[in-house]
Amino acid sequence: MPLEEMKDLQLVGRYIEPETTEVNGVLMTKIISDNWDNIWNFQAKSDDLLIASYAKSGTTWTQEIVDMIQNDGDVQMCQRANTFDRHPFIEWALPPPFNSGLDLAKKMPSPRTMKTHLPVQLLPPSFWKENTKIIYVARNAKDCLVSYYHFSRMSKLVPDPGTWEEYIEAFKAGKLLWGSWYDHVKGWWNAKDQHPILYLFYEDIKEDPKREIQKILKFLEKEMPEEILNKIIYHTSFDIMKQNPMANYTTLPTTLMDQSISPFMRKGMPGDWKNHFTVAQNEEFDKDYQEKMAGTTLTFRTEI
Ligand code: A3P
Repeated sequence: MPLEEMKDLQLVGRYIEPETTEVNGVLMTKIISDNWDNIWNFQAKSDDLLIASYAKSGTTWTQEIVDMIQNDGDVQMCQRANTFDRHPFIEWALPPPFNSGLDLAKKMPSPRTMKTHLPVQLLPPSFWKENTKIIYVARNAKDCLVSYYHFSRMSKLVPDPGTWEEYIEAFKAGKLLWGSWYDHVKGWWNAKDQHPILYLFYEDIKEDPKREIQKILKFLEKEMPEEILNKIIYHTSFDIMKQNPMANYTTLPTTLMDQSISPFMRKGMPGDWKNHFTVAQNEEFDKDYQEKMAGTTLTFRTEI
């Protein structure tokens, strides 16, 4: 959407709390469930790339890294459009007059790079059939919860989070949009053994972006001179992305995201959960976590 039209939206937009409903037991907005047949029947292609994650796990960061790789470190090319227009969010639809993710994806010339927060069992089957490459990024539960909580306070596109205490319980019960974090990260972890999925961790990218970008390069079968690699690390650092209107969602009207409440690029650090959880909340969370994550080989770092 042209930026001038977006400015007009600032004047006409209204806050409407999105209605939610379930798709196969997973909480979704009604916009998604109403369009579910089209989403499920979406036709993926073998040369597509999909960036998948549970919400607030570093998706936008991964998208920016991938876009910089695909454009050989050309910063201007990566500012050709908003992140949400560069990489269609396949199941999502902003209110009219924005294009739905599905429409954008269908119109996009190949090779396409797209985004999803769908849990593995709800991914349109054509992605499996076409053997499409997928980059999954996961983030530790507590930081993900904190980030999602603040995002839900400022974004009018997702339900109101309620109180902090209520939000912790909703997270544990999987009663948030896109369902249970626990099922999501485990489901995609298991899928990587049968499908070309590069499973990345937010904490690892933060710790050593060069190492993780090299993993992406290998996965995409690309090589890159050191100089461009360093440019990508710089351009996709938190401080630079925070100032980049094509990555920080500030071009959206405040009626959709009110970043005076909490910025989209909020803290960008592992370990912020320590500033939010009380000792008792942390103990209870850990106990429940052990039960939900028992038996998996998947492990997370809650700080670096
Ligand atoms: P915080 O709210 O903890 O700051 P998503 O893109 O999946 O919605 O994830 C958003 C989270 O990723 C936010 O976390 C945001 O600040 C963080 N993020 C975005 N770009 C980042 C970057 N370049 N470095 C570190 N964190 C980043």
